[in-house]
Amino acid sequence: MESLSSKQFFASLFILLAISSYINSSLAPTPTPNKVSTEFIKTSCNSTTYKKLCFTSLSTYANLIQTSPELLAMTAINVTLSSAKSTSTMMVNLSKSQGISPKVVAAMKDCVEELSDSVYELKKSIGEMKNNKGSNFQLMINDIQTWVSAALTDETTCSDGFQGKAMNGNVKTLVRAGIVNVAHLTSNALALINRYASLYG
Ligand SMILES: *[C@@H]1O[C@H](CO)[C@@H](O)[C@H](O)[C@H]1NC(C)=O
Ligand SMILES: *[C@@H]1O[C@H](CO)[C@@H](O)[C@H](O)[C@H]1NC(C)=O
Ligand SMILES: *[C@@H]1O[C@H](CO)[C@@H](O)[C@H](O)[C@H]1NC(C)=O
Repeated sequence: MESLSSKQFFASLFILLAISSYINSSLAPTPTPNKVSTEFIKTSCNSTTYKKLCFTSLSTYANLIQTSPELLAMTAINVTLSSAKSTSTMMVNLSKSQGISPKVVAAMKDCVEELSDSVYELKKSIGEMKNNKGSNFQLMINDIQTWVSAALTDETTCSDGFQGKAMNGNVKTLVRAGIVNVAHLTSNALALINRYASLYG
């Protein structure tokens, strides 16, 4: 049995990157970036752990976000959701490639399940943020913090499944890159939600 070739590996990596940039550009509003908003995003991202990723993933939405901590937090959740979905799709595709050991396929299947839980939690968060106008702010924030933290736990469980095992190096690298990216986006979203909460709570 042959393992995943580097050709397949780079093809998948390329598709993953192409999809994430497609998502970024297709969701992005107008091309002229708003300077005040861009500064606002930079300052807000300063409170996150992965500042650079925070800024690059959100600055394309400057015109949508303006200087609203609520829209910033919501966009961060939306971006995280898109990334979780595309990573999951990539993993389903990869798990069907030739020559991947049943052990790796099993770990991938678990991971896809964790990611789907994570997508569910993120969707609930977006729904609550959209529909909670005027209701109990603190309750909404508590719910969202719980759900986004749960999403982060699911992603960590998934990437842990790819550690320490004798797994195909390429698949491991690819899966971990995707998952780590989603987990970092989730961590940043949580920090931005906390920031939003501290400004209005
Ligand atoms: C980011 O935070 C650091 C300290 O935590 C501060 O020195 C720096 O000026 C901040 N940068 C921005 C853009 O707010
Ligand atoms: C986030 O996504 C939801 C659902 O797709 C959408 O209704 C909402 O307008 C988006 N919000 C932002 C700030 O992008
Ligand atoms: C998954 O495979 C399908 C069919 O082969 C393809 O259309 C799709 O672009 C692939 N997606 C990813 C994320 O690799």
